[in-house]
Amino acid sequence: MSLKDVSNKVISLNRRRGQKGRGPTTTNRSGSGPKARVIAITSGKGGVGKTSIVANLGYAFTKLGKKVLILDADLGLGNLDVLLGLAPKYNLSHVILGEKNIEEILVEGPGRMKILPASSGIQELTNLTREQKIDIFTQLDSLVNSVDVLFIDTAAGISSNVMDFNATAQEIVVVVSPEPTSITDAYALMKVLSLKYSEKVCKLLVNMTTRPEEGREVFRQLHLVTDRFLDLTSDYLGCILYDDKVTKGVKNQKIVSELYPDTQASRCFRDLARKIANSPPQKLPQGASNLFWKHLVQTSI
Ligand SMILES: Nc1ncnc2c1ncn2[C@@H]1O[C@H](COP(=O)(O)OP(=O)(O)OP(=O)(O)O)[C@@H](O)[C@H]1O
Ligand SMILES: [Mg+2]
Repeated sequence: MSLKDVSNKVISLNRRRGQKGRGPTTTNRSGSGPKARVIAITSGKGGVGKTSIVANLGYAFTKLGKKVLILDADLGLGNLDVLLGLAPKYNLSHVILGEKNIEEILVEGPGRMKILPASSGIQELTNLTREQKIDIFTQLDSLVNSVDVLFIDTAAGISSNVMDFNATAQEIVVVVSPEPTSITDAYALMKVLSLKYSEKVCKLLVNMTTRPEEGREVFRQLHLVTDRFLDLTSDYLGCILYDDKVTKGVKNQKIVSELYPDTQASRCFRDLARKIANSPPQKLPQGASNLFWKHLVQTSI
C-alpha cells in the first residue's frame, strides 16, 4: 500500500462517518504556572520506537543540563527498565496497590535520569479504575515539580489508559514509522484525541526513516488528512533515522546515545532534544498542577 493509498483509505473512512467542522486552535500560554514540562510519547501502532525515543531523548535532555523524570506508562507491558539495564525492586503496580508511594519506586538511569518503572504481565493494570488513575496523577503531580521535564512513555493504541495519560500531558508527541499500518493507526489515535479528548495540537515524530525527506513525506500525508477532517493541528517535530545501532544497544541493555554517541540515531536524538528544549511548551496548566488530570476528572476519566 502506498502513502497515497493510505490517505485515500483515511479519507474514505471519514466520508462514511461525516466530516468534522473546524474550530480555533487554542493554547494556554499563561505566564505563571508549574515548572516542569510534561511530554507524552505515544503511538497508534506498537513497536514504532516510543520507549527507545523516551530513553534517548531523556538522556539527551540530561546532557543539556535538565533534570529528567520518565514515567513508564505502559502499565501492563512496561519494559523501559529492561531497555536501560535496570532491575527495580518495586514498580507502579506497588503504588497502585497502595504498598508504596511514588517516590519509593524511583530508580536512577543513565545521565541520572529518574525512572518510574512499570510492571510487566499484570493484565489488570491495563484497565485502571477512575480512583486508581486519580491517585497516580495526584502523586505524580507532587513529584514533577522537582524536575525540568517529565516524559511519559505510553503503551500503543487507543485504550483509555493510554488516552488519559496523553490527555494529562502538556504536549503529545505521536510517533509514527513510515509503514502504512503505522500511519493509519496514528491517524486513528489523533482522531480519538481530537473527538473524545478535545486535543487541538499533536506533534508528529517519524521514526526509522531511511532519509529526512521520507519523514517529511510521512508528515505531509498525515497532515493532509488531519487538517481536512479533524479539528486538530499536526506539527512536524522531526525524524529519527533508522540505525542498526539502536537495536545493538537494546541487546546490550544500554541506550544507543550512551553506547554509540556518534552514530546517526544518537545525533538525531541530540538534535531533537535541542529543538524541543528551545521551543516553548504548548500549553500550561493553571495553578500549581503540572498535569491536566483535574480537568480530566471533570470530563472523561
Ligand atoms: N531509529 C531506530 N532505528 C532502528 N531500530 C529502531 C529505531 N527505533 C527503535 N528501533 C527498534 O524498534 C524496536 C521497537 O522499539 P521500542 O520498543 O522502543 O518500540 P515501542 O513503540 O516502545 O514498542 P511498544 O509499542 O511495544 O511499547 C526495538 O527493537 C528497537 O531497537
Ligand atoms: Mg514501549
